[in-house]
Amino acid sequence: MACRLLALAALLGLAGCSPALDSQLVTRGQEAYVAEGCHACHGRQQEGTVMGPDLRAVSRHWRLDELAAYLADPASHRQQQARLQRLSGRYSTQMPPLATLPEDRRRALAAFLLSR
Ligand code: HEC
Repeated sequence: MACRLLALAALLGLAGCSPALDSQLVTRGQEAYVAEGCHACHGRQQEGTVMGPDLRAVSRHWRLDELAAYLADPASHRQQQARLQRLSGRYSTQMPPLATLPEDRRRALAAFLLSR
């Protein structure tokens, strides 16, 4: 029964319940987070710095595919989402596009952030 509820929650995309996240993907994403320099702006524990926001609750706003796509092209998402525009306005820098990063690496980063 608990499993069915989890599966249902995953289907509904409920925040904080992500049984579909592959643990190897999450581990690779954790490595990429440091290797790609994300911590410089978002902090070692994703707690945020003066250069970039706290990422510990991104699962409230994103699902895996969308987040991987955002990482490739933050500017177009900023244009479409008022929340991102407001967020961006608080920082002197902007989220750099990771368009040259292979998709599986972006997905790994997204999985790691959603697992937090
Ligand atoms: C130069 C500083 C900088 C670097 C480096 C950086 N970011 Fe960002 N990031 C930002 C800023 C500023 C924002 C605020 C929104 C915007 O500008 O689009 C942001 C926004 C985000 C968001 C959206 C947060 C939300 O609430 O939806 C995610 C996710 C994210 N960054 C992940 C990453 C990852 C993963 C990396 C490493 C590959 C990274 N960032 C590297 C500055 C940075």
